[in-house]
Amino acid sequence: MSILRVTRSALLAAVLTTPLAASADKMPIPADAPAAFRAECGDCHMAFSPALLTAPDWRRVVGQLDQHYGDNVRIDEKTRGEIEAFLIRHASTRNERTWRRDRAAPPHRSDPPRLTGTPWFRREHREVPASLWRDTRVVSASNCPACHGRAEEGSFRKRELALPELQRRKEHH
Ligand code: HEC
Ligand code: HEC
Repeated sequence: MSILRVTRSALLAAVLTTPLAASADKMPIPADAPAAFRAECGDCHMAFSPALLTAPDWRRVVGQLDQHYGDNVRIDEKTRGEIEAFLIRHASTRNERTWRRDRAAPPHRSDPPRLTGTPWFRREHREVPASLWRDTRVVSASNCPACHGRAEEGSFRKRELALPELQRRKEHH
């Protein structure tokens, strides 16, 4: 009986903690990041959390840094290898098929892949008005800190939304 009860409470705890664990509003850079990661991958844009792409997608990103979304990222091979291992170690484990399912229409289909093109990103942002992505304060969906005031710290909570129109939206909903 007591074993049963323990099992039940363990199950219940698992059920209760699952939504929390799946919550996407916290994505800090893991502490074991190689020293070069923030410097090399946070130079032109925010250093993106490894949890934003799957391992195969990260391999494609860091495997062609000379053709990096129109840029050429120069990093020595040893550092590149360390960064790749780190990204893969903490990559998203979301189901590959779900992750890729509707990455059909351009500009979402790209090589290297875009985290802003994943179904997950588009779902989380389905309420963002299309015009806002091209607003001069934002310029690109990859510019997370334009809208998320604490993005650099890996925090994406609703109440931290930076643009006034997003805050108004936040109060009314
Ligand atoms: C020389 C500048 C530069 C450096 C250094 C750089 N990037 Fe980028 N990165 C860019 C540009 C430009 C884009 C495209 C931005 C856009 O279109 O919004 C980009 C986009 C990305 C994207 C896709 C964002 C999206 O739209 O979903 C990822 C992922 C990425 N970079 C990862 C990295 C990683 C990992 C490193 C370090 C190895 C790195 N970047 C270093 C310039 C750079
Ligand atoms: C144009 C503004 C804008 C940009 C740019 C933007 N976001 Fe968002 N983001 C939003 C809004 C608005 C929401 C929805 C908040 C809500 O209703 O919960 C959101 C939601 C999220 C959530 C879900 C938060 C939660 O409560 O679960 C995450 C995670 C997130 N964004 C990450 C990112 C990342 C990473 C980037 C950059 C690659 C980014 N966002 C770029 C506006 C933006």
